[in-house]
Amino acid sequence: MDHLQMTPRLSLFSHTVREHVSDAEDSGEFSRMMMQIALGGKLIARDLRKAGLSQFLGSTGLINVQGEEVQKLDERANQIFLEVFEHQKLVSTLVSEEMEKPYLIKEADGKGKYAIFLDPLDGSSNIDVNAPLGSIFSIHRLPGEGFPTSEDVLRKKGCEQVAAGYFLYGSSVLLVYTCGHGVQQFTLDQETGEFFLSANNLQIPKRGKIYSVNEGNRQKWCSGTKNFLHYLQEPDSQTGRPYSGRYSGCFVADMHRVLCKGGLYMYPGELKKPDGKLRLMYEAAPLAFLVEQAGGLGSTGVERVNQLTPHALHQRVPLYIGSQDDVTKAEEFLQSESTT
Ligand code: AHG
Ligand code: MN
Ligand code: MN
Repeated sequence: MDHLQMTPRLSLFSHTVREHVSDAEDSGEFSRMMMQIALGGKLIARDLRKAGLSQFLGSTGLINVQGEEVQKLDERANQIFLEVFEHQKLVSTLVSEEMEKPYLIKEADGKGKYAIFLDPLDGSSNIDVNAPLGSIFSIHRLPGEGFPTSEDVLRKKGCEQVAAGYFLYGSSVLLVYTCGHGVQQFTLDQETGEFFLSANNLQIPKRGKIYSVNEGNRQKWCSGTKNFLHYLQEPDSQTGRPYSGRYSGCFVADMHRVLCKGGLYMYPGELKKPDGKLRLMYEAAPLAFLVEQAGGLGSTGVERVNQLTPHALHQRVPLYIGSQDDVTKAEEFLQSESTT
């Protein structure tokens, strides 16, 4: 009978075990780490669903290390990830947008093999208006034993990430991640509390028709970025221009659209702030690793994001990320400006 021949659902746990079954050293470890990350995402999703009915809306009145206002839900999401990793020994340290310094996990006693970088809640300006939000994570292997220093956690380039991904808290809750073998998407089944595979080996179109950028900043950009935007908006039927503009104010939500439909997201550098806004270690690098696993590119406009050697935990980078042809075109505009 037809209904008995349905493809069985694949849970996140089964998928991670299957992915790593040939890697003896990591077998089991990676699954355990991913299950903890997934638990963090589920707890955050639960709090977001009832945010308007709880005490979690609004600002804490504090300013974080980025000089940005901390919302109560930023703090709550950060706390959730700290709690989730408190009682395990695999992850020695967590680095987060909301904490100036790496947080050392006591129970791991400096013997954990991994460091996790987090943007616990991405798109905080969407909190009070019930618009999409995300969380971003990046996993790095640590160089050796002993509690890691800030320098230890900064030794690796983005291309050396063990895994990276995001949660998208939208009309459904998605977990999209890569561990270097393509990009997988899981959807949370709210009734069982389980993430199930909903898209396997996601591939970004080579070129898209959508750009995502905060155009309110146009006057602050260099002429290369202004000219590129002008190019995207110019009508040309052969190249499918003008592109459509879409911007939600949540990097994860905008990047998920770009991943599915093609096109590019940009947060350019500005004349007075050449490094732009997004942070390398827990925003740009993980999404660049992921998009490159899907066949796209992540660039600062002049070099690949994941070839950069990081120099600070909360370092910012200009970002052009998405479909291969669109990012390459952005680079052409930016590089022609820098040589003239
Ligand atoms: P966060 O909420 O983690 O600080 O990140 C906000 C980021 C990103 O999600 C978004 O694309 C961008 O900042 C929005 O910034 P603007 O309001 O300057 O466009
Ligand atoms: Mn963010
Ligand atoms: Mn954030």
